[in-house]
Amino acid sequence: MSLVYKADPARGAEWAALLAAKRPDLPFHVWPDTGDAAAVRFLAAWVPPADLMGTFPNLEVLFSVGAGVDQFDLSALPPQVPLVRMVEPGIIDAMAEYATMSVLALHRDLPAYLVQQREERWKQIRVRTAASRGVGVLGLGELGQAVLARLAPFGFRLSGWSRSRKAIPGVACHAGAAELPAFLAGCDILVCLLPLTAETRGFLHAGLFAQLPPGAGLVNVGRGGHLVQQDLLAALDSGRLSAAVLDVAEPEPLPAGHPFWRHPRILLTPHIASQTQPETAVEALLANLDRHARGERMLGLVDRARGY
Ligand code: NAP
Ligand code: GLV
Repeated sequence: MSLVYKADPARGAEWAALLAAKRPDLPFHVWPDTGDAAAVRFLAAWVPPADLMGTFPNLEVLFSVGAGVDQFDLSALPPQVPLVRMVEPGIIDAMAEYATMSVLALHRDLPAYLVQQREERWKQIRVRTAASRGVGVLGLGELGQAVLARLAPFGFRLSGWSRSRKAIPGVACHAGAAELPAFLAGCDILVCLLPLTAETRGFLHAGLFAQLPPGAGLVNVGRGGHLVQQDLLAALDSGRLSAAVLDVAEPEPLPAGHPFWRHPRILLTPHIASQTQPETAVEALLANLDRHARGERMLGLVDRARGY
């Protein structure tokens, strides 16, 4: 019974050292090494091999090494093999940090000041109080809730939106399509932390931007597929949106010459808002293997019907 890792090989080497120390009885291989493929019961992958069951005929559990699972073709996964996404404190903490940085950058007009600095222009923009501004998070899952908790001490009006209703102290929680307009109307800064599914592809589009307060800021840390790129460019041109922080794009990397690279009101980072941390990810995976062995529900089990 063995575990194969199929993702960044440098981090795979870290997983190997950690697993050798914590679970020496569990044979571990870093792809393309698989050992005896018939002995592989567990696969931790960013992208699985094309012919998953042909490659690992006795696979019991497929783990995503990331929090998102949109890179998996759920319809091609056999129903008896559960898909489990990564829920571990390293990803959560780094996302809370990055989203806070982005919200504060937009709140304090950093994109405008970066342009002014390049132009050697000394011009003050009136400082607005945090209390006068609303920050809203699309998606109140593991990451969305952690971001809101990290933002709480700054004093923004906080709100959130999800499919099912949540109750989070200090956060105005909205649920479902009917409550989306009221949520958006209060978001001077909007953070997208939805999973990418058939329902959420293209969610950040002109019709949604039109419901935000004029001059709102956008942070997309979900997936590039959430954003309709032309609609963002038009909203920035018209002033409907003031600036955007984008950590994700479609495709990744963006092609040379893409308008996002040099846009004066877009801050772009290469999908680094958060990353799975080997130390805590290995702990999370081993805890799930123990749950699996006991016949318990694993943390992060993906509901295929919902797509996340
Ligand atoms: P999660 O725990 O599954 O939470 C997803 C949230 O989105 C839930 O609150 C869910 O509502 C809500 N949601 C999903 N579909 C919806 C819909 N159609 N309408 C309304 N709400 C909907 O996921 P997570 O761990 O927070 O991760 C979220 C995403 O962050 C990942 O899928 C990934 O794409 C992205 N991510 C990005 C990075 C990066 O570095 N940029 C790193 C990690 C993750 P319910 O609570 O009602 O189910
Ligand atoms: C990274 O984007 C992840 O889904 O963990």
